[in-house]
Order: sequence, then C-alpha cells, then structure tokens
Amino acid sequence: MTLSSSMLAMEISAPGGPDVLKPVSLPVPVPGHGQIIVRLAYAGVNRPDALQRAGSYAPPASASPLPGLEGAGTVVAMGPGVNRWQIGDKVCALFPGGAYAEYAACHESHALRIPADLPLREAACLPETCFTVWSNIVMRGKLKAGERFLVHGGSSGIGTTAVQIAKALGARVFATAGSDEKCRVVESLGAERCFNYRTEDFGDEAKKLGGFGLILDMVGGPYLPRNVKALADDGRLVQIAFLQGPKVELNFAEMMMRRLTLTGSTLRPQSDQAKATIAAEVEANVWPMIARGAFRVVIDSEYPLSEAPTAHWRLESSGHVGKIVLQVEGI
Ligand SMILES: NC(=O)c1ccc[n+]([C@@H]2O[C@H](COP(=O)([O-])OP(=O)(O)OC[C@H]3O[C@@H](n4cnc5c(N)ncnc54)[C@H](OP(=O)(O)O)[C@@H]3O)[C@@H](O)[C@H]2O)c1
Repeated sequence: MTLSSSMLAMEISAPGGPDVLKPVSLPVPVPGHGQIIVRLAYAGVNRPDALQRAGSYAPPASASPLPGLEGAGTVVAMGPGVNRWQIGDKVCALFPGGAYAEYAACHESHALRIPADLPLREAACLPETCFTVWSNIVMRGKLKAGERFLVHGGSSGIGTTAVQIAKALGARVFATAGSDEKCRVVESLGAERCFNYRTEDFGDEAKKLGGFGLILDMVGGPYLPRNVKALADDGRLVQIAFLQGPKVELNFAEMMMRRLTLTGSTLRPQSDQAKATIAAEVEANVWPMIARGAFRVVIDSEYPLSEAPTAHWRLESSGHVGKIVLQVEGI
C-alpha cells in the first residue's frame, strides 16, 4: 500500500481555549518497533484532550504532541516485530496521542478488533473510555456482582460506559449527573438511581442504602470527604480526575476504622505492557458485552476533524451526554 507523505492534523497551536486547535499539514508518522499506523476514519474526543489543549495535561515525552487518544480505522503500515495485524485490518485503538489526524501510530497490542461489527464511528469511542473504566472499576476497584457502585459524572463518556459495564457485571448501579434530563438517560442505561447533584445529596442516599462498595470519582475537591462518608465498610474510592481540585482536608481515621481503600490511576503514562494487559482484558470481557447488547456506545454528536474546536466547546459546555466523535476520513 502506498501512503501519502503528508496528512491533515489538528494541532495545539498554543495553550488555551478551543480555538487554539488549528489545522496543519504534517508528515505521516513512521512506525517504530512493534507499532502500527492506522488511517483513521473517526477519532473520539475525551476530556483529557481538552486538559492537554489548555496546557494542564502534558503528553508523555515519547508521545505525539497532537491531541487524540482513541480512534478507529484501517491498518496501513507496520513496523518491525508486528505480528498481530495485517495491512487492511480494521481496528480501534488506544493512542498515546496523535489521533486528531489522518494517520496515527500506536503499539500493536493497543489495537483491538472491531467488536460485533460495530460501525467505525462507534468503535472509535471505545478504547480510552473502556480501558479507563475496566482498569479502574474491575482491576483496581475489584467491583463484585451484587455490590452497590456509584459513578459521578454519570452522563459523561466515562460515566455512560461505567454504568453499563458495572450493570453487565451484576452490580447495583448508582450515579450522579447535573440535570434531571441527564439522570433519566443514565437510568435508561441501567442505573437503579441517578441523583441530580444540583438538587439531591448523594450522601443522604448512601446512608439509606448502607453505603457504596465502590465509588468511581472524577470530581474530587469537596467530593473527597463526602465520598469517604458514602462508602460502606471495606469500600473502595477510585479517583480518575479532580475536576474540582486535588487538595482537601480529610480525616483519615475513618479509612482505618472502616477498612477503606483510597486509590486512583491515570491511563496515559502507563507502560506499553500495562496497557496491553488492559487491552486484553477489555477485549475478553467488554467486547462480549457489546456483542450481547449489554453495552452500547452513546454518541452525543459528530464533527469533522477540522471542526475540533466546536467539538471542544461542546465538551466543555457540559451540555453533552455520552461521547463526541470526530469524522476524519472523507474530509
Ligand atoms: N484517569 C484516567 O486515566 C482518565 C481517562 C479518561 C478520562 N478521565 C477523566 O474522566 C472524566 C470524564 O472524562 P470524559 O472524557 O468522559 O469527559 P466528559 O464527558 O466531559 O465528562 C465530565 C463530566 O463531569 C461531570 N461533572 C462535573 N462536575 C460534576 C459534579 N460536581 N458532580 C458530578 N458530575 C460532575 C459533567 O457533567 P455535568 O456537567 O452534568 O455535571 C460531565 O459529564 C474527566 O475528568 C477526565 O479527565 C480520566
């Protein structure tokens, strides 16, 4: 297959608001050892892209400085040592960066087959959210069937994914979201109750229920002590972001007296091997959920790659429910 030598990409021209995302022509990446090049049809938009754009989430030194952590398309080139894929295979993949572009490079073990013949548009929205949710609620959070699970930001890309995966695992699922309308959508995805955090206190509900076995939180700040109170004995709090800040005063005695676990992780800086392990677990456990209809991708809106700034305005307005996707092929 002959590749063009240059490609369209959206770069972060300077740290700032959505309008700093600018179209640029760049050389097509060259695959390193164990890497594949994917010609992207679609790329998913995630909150970490907006944080990187604003200058508060630097990419790892080895990653492309372009934004874009996930996408789906066709394998068009392979570096030495690749044996999982053939040229022409359709894949969705987790990228260390660079997916706001026509071509992007990733490790071969971070690409997955398209599950259940899903359209590429939907498959593009799976890797970043599924890797994050699976690794944090199952591998780290040890969610068990029958346990009460609470996810904050239930209508987000992460939230809509966590609700459905936890439900498919047999947990009793609860969530918070910022409006009654969002809460009803989250409940339609399998949450027993979604609390509108602007009008309801999830802590009151936690008391009535006897506490949550696991909480997945992206809010932080004042939510930290409230989350600790809302955990059941032996409960786990897994932190994946701090939308309201990472610093807070906390009485840790409760952690000791009630045997709580406070933990968290970020996906992007983890090693290739760690991401490969997560990829294999996602393919083995989440892809069958999609095949049997227990999990569907919730897409809020789609924009051409060149309209990435509008996609970021939409993300940061918090008006969205589920995922925002960029169309890359055919632009
Ligand atoms: N650790 C990792 O590896 C990792 C990986 C991917 C994403 N993340 C993080 O996970 C979060 C979700 O990512 P995403 O891409 O799905 O972004 P997103 O769709 O923009 O989600 C952000 C959500 O936070 C909600 N929110 C804001 N304040 C809240 C509050 N006080 N209580 C409850 N919900 C609140 C917003 O909904 P409302 O406005 O309705 O409240 C929105 O749904 C982001 O913070 C992102 O940085 C972490």
